[in-house]
Parts: sequence; structure tokens; C-alpha cells
Amino acid sequence: MKMNLRLYVAADALTEARAKGTHVVVIDVLRASSTIVQAYESGVERIIPVDGVEEATRLLPTLDRDKALLCGEQEGMKVDGFDLGNSPLEYTSTAVGGKTLVLSTTNGTTAMVRAAASDEIAVGCFLNLKAVIAHLVSAEPERVSILCAGTNGLLSLEDFVCAGLMVDGLLEAYRNELTLNDAAVAARLLAGSMTDIAKVISQSSHGQYLRDLGFEKDLDFCSRLDLYSSVPTVVDGRIKGREQSSHR
Ligand code: MLT
Repeated sequence: MKMNLRLYVAADALTEARAKGTHVVVIDVLRASSTIVQAYESGVERIIPVDGVEEATRLLPTLDRDKALLCGEQEGMKVDGFDLGNSPLEYTSTAVGGKTLVLSTTNGTTAMVRAAASDEIAVGCFLNLKAVIAHLVSAEPERVSILCAGTNGLLSLEDFVCAGLMVDGLLEAYRNELTLNDAAVAARLLAGSMTDIAKVISQSSHGQYLRDLGFEKDLDFCSRLDLYSSVPTVVDGRIKGREQSSHR
């Protein structure tokens, strides 16, 4: 088995042509991917990642309002009028169990929407790193794109290091059968020298920004490695919850 792996350091880099025929893993450690993985673990019925607040509010009337929650952030803060922000710690089973979430975040959900032309979109972060690697190894796709959401078109340290650990795990499984682009090589090297994940997150620009907003606890939570073994996937623009996935 051979795998061709490309790493993109920010959401804008993934064009439709690049997405086609690949399995994409979207990494937004701070915080969309971590929030989605947490919501999935808390028993959501569905998550609909959207590209912007307008799209989220447009969708809402088409959903059963008793079960739907508007979720997401702008500049890190909960959007006015939304039910939840983008802090994974808000996504408890009491808050989101059995609900449909419409989630809009600045970079993370936008990256998921950008990857729509791909064969599969998996959601990855430190919380489910090992599970994502195992998922890819068992799916054996020939082409994989790791899409770091980044921040407004720029590289985010925490996404890049997380991607590097993913590359490393895949190299272990694939050895010489894995072809990497330059960004993937660089991410792996960096991840090998920045091994303290909590430190990576707390030193990152977005980590510092979130700390200033008072989200220190999110930083601790998002740095937990392999807390969960689930890999939410976006199919036809929707992430089905665990219950729904097992009855597909
Ligand atoms: C994003 O999508 O840009 C992030 O998830 C922002 C955040 O920290 O909430």
C-alpha cells in the first residue's frame, strides 16, 4: 500500500482541484476540531459545519428549532444571539446530547466547507490523534490531505505540530511507501522537537489570544492527547452523531 500525503498549512491553500480524490483531515486544534470531537463524544445527533454566521442563521429556520442550536464564534467570542460559543468545555452531554448543532467558526468550519469536493473529511486534533492515524491506516486511501485550518490564511503552530505528529504516526505504519510534501516533512521535524503539547498551545499566537479572552481552560483541554478514540467525519456537509453513524 502506498500513500501520497500533502500537508496544507492554512485553509485557503486547499482548492477544489486539490481536494478532489483525496481523504482530508481538517485540524483546528484551537478550537473547532476539539469542539466537534467533544460534541461528538457528548452525543450530538448532528453537526453542520458552515462557512460563516450568515449561513448559520440562514439554515436555522430549516431545522427543528427544539433540537437545533446555533453555535460558533467570531474573534473567539460567542456570536451575539447564538446558543453556544466555540469552547469545547461548553459542549457537555446536558447541553448538546441529541441536538443538531449548526457550527460556524472563523477558520475551522470554513476549512471543512472548503474540503467538500474530497472523498472524505475527517476531523482531527490532539484529542483524537491516534484514532485519526488508525482511521487512515485502515481506510488505506492513496491520497491524503492534512488541512491545517490556520488563522486567517497563516500557519498556526498548534495545528502544524499536531499535523506533524499525524505524519509521524503514518510514517511508522507506511515506512517507505509514504510520499510527503515539504510542509509535511517540516511539520514532522518540528513536532519531533516540540514535544510538550501544552507548551506548544500556550506559546502559540492563538493560544495567547484565547488566554487573554479568558479561555485558559480551553488551552489545557485542547492539549490532552488521545483523550478520545472517535473520528467524526463530514459526509454531505453533515457530521452524524455516534448513534446515527452506528445505525447507518
Ligand atoms: C476558528 O475556527 O478560527 C477557531 O476555532 C477560533 C476559536 O478559537 O474559536
